[in-house]
Amino acid sequence: MKQKTIFVCNECGNETPKWSGKCFSCGAWNSLTEVTVSAKKAQTRETTASDRSGALTKITEIDVCDELRFDTGMEELNRVLGGGAVHGSLVLVGGEPGIGKSTILLQICSELCKASKVLYISGEESPRQLKLRADRLEVNPENLYVYAGTDIDDIMATTERVSPQIMIVDSIQTIFKSDLPSTPGSVSQVRECTMALMELAKGKNITVFVVGHVNKDGYIAGPKVLEHMVDSVLYFEGDRNMSYRILRAAKNRFGSTNEIGVFEMCDKGLREVKNPSAALLEGRPTEVPGTCVACVMEGTRPILAEIQALITTTAYGTARRMSSGLDYNRSALLLAVLEKRAGFKMGNYDAYINVVGGLKIEETSSDLPTLLAVASACKDKALPADIAAFGEIGLTGEIRSVSSPQLRLNEIKRLGFKRCIMPKQNYNDVTVPDGLDVMFARNLAEAIAALL
Ligand code: TYD
Ligand code: MG
Repeated sequence: MKQKTIFVCNECGNETPKWSGKCFSCGAWNSLTEVTVSAKKAQTRETTASDRSGALTKITEIDVCDELRFDTGMEELNRVLGGGAVHGSLVLVGGEPGIGKSTILLQICSELCKASKVLYISGEESPRQLKLRADRLEVNPENLYVYAGTDIDDIMATTERVSPQIMIVDSIQTIFKSDLPSTPGSVSQVRECTMALMELAKGKNITVFVVGHVNKDGYIAGPKVLEHMVDSVLYFEGDRNMSYRILRAAKNRFGSTNEIGVFEMCDKGLREVKNPSAALLEGRPTEVPGTCVACVMEGTRPILAEIQALITTTAYGTARRMSSGLDYNRSALLLAVLEKRAGFKMGNYDAYINVVGGLKIEETSSDLPTLLAVASACKDKALPADIAAFGEIGLTGEIRSVSSPQLRLNEIKRLGFKRCIMPKQNYNDVTVPDGLDVMFARNLAEAIAALL
């Protein structure tokens, strides 16, 4: 078989015929990996292309079976997938080692097996280990088949024999194609094996869940290479040392990518957290400076989270800024606004900002609570314990309107807060719930003056 060599960028997935120190497409240095592609692959693609060339249909005439989606038995997972898993789709579940990928997939088996035959390909654990885990998780369904093998051709043959409706591959980094010279987990192996699984999913209408470990930089080996091939990419986030796990869709061909699922790791596996706000605020310190409760939207759900700030005198020349759970650049920008528009001298102080519970906030409505927490830390004065805040902050210090203010207010009320501070610009969009004292603020200085 004729073999061809190409170079694939680990950062953006761009392919070039020639090696170079810098990727032409994304500009990353030293990111090209040599990949061997077999000529056979091209052939099979040609034949499938010709097979399919007859399938010219008007979109209005395409038959969609009624049961496009199926329930995974976990509401939080269904939500992230856009209302259940889609038949014949390939879902990549990524996350750091030990975050709970194998656990969640084994757990959903008990529900999936009620209606379908499930094949679990275990490349990392022996069947005995898997059984021990299943016992602990109390999943022992009749219809679950386990295969411990890593050669993709054997896996294909087994799939042929078992003909499952659902397949779980744990993990993509352990399986390999024997006619490729590179080691399992390398870009070329991961690519080829995913391609094979994709054909399986589409050709036989099997739903395939693939586990992918993420490396230190937060990428699944050959990151974008994999992401653009599969239908959906779900990432598990959260601190491994803390019990909360957040499942987020990074890509979804069959739904939105806004929704998150919240889980807690307990002794019997992952438990769904139906009331994430309450969970994230549990044990919150009150009457201490440097903390403020934010209300952010995650998809269609408002979630309350605590933002903490610590301000200390700089020991060396330049002041340090550190943020976890919030975008670093956004935090730096906000601190500059606080200095310029509210008169807080931040130049000689280190600032540390953290979102409690491992939540990663991407929404700008966390601007106001972030700066309230910082201002509170600077003044060494606690904010009222029963207040929550939301609002975007502009460069002139103005507080800008945010989306879904009513949903946020309702959630704040539901969790027992008595007061809320929000953008004046949203004044006409809300009816204030009974028993909630709402302050509409126009700018940062006004908000700080009223509370601190
Ligand atoms: P696992 O699903 O094996 O991680 P991954 O497949 O993503 O690498 O999760 C392993 C972690 O979860 C491990 O640190 C132990 C913890 N865990 C529990 O706390 N309770 C449980 O019931 C199980 C099965 C695992
Ligand atoms: Mg695992």
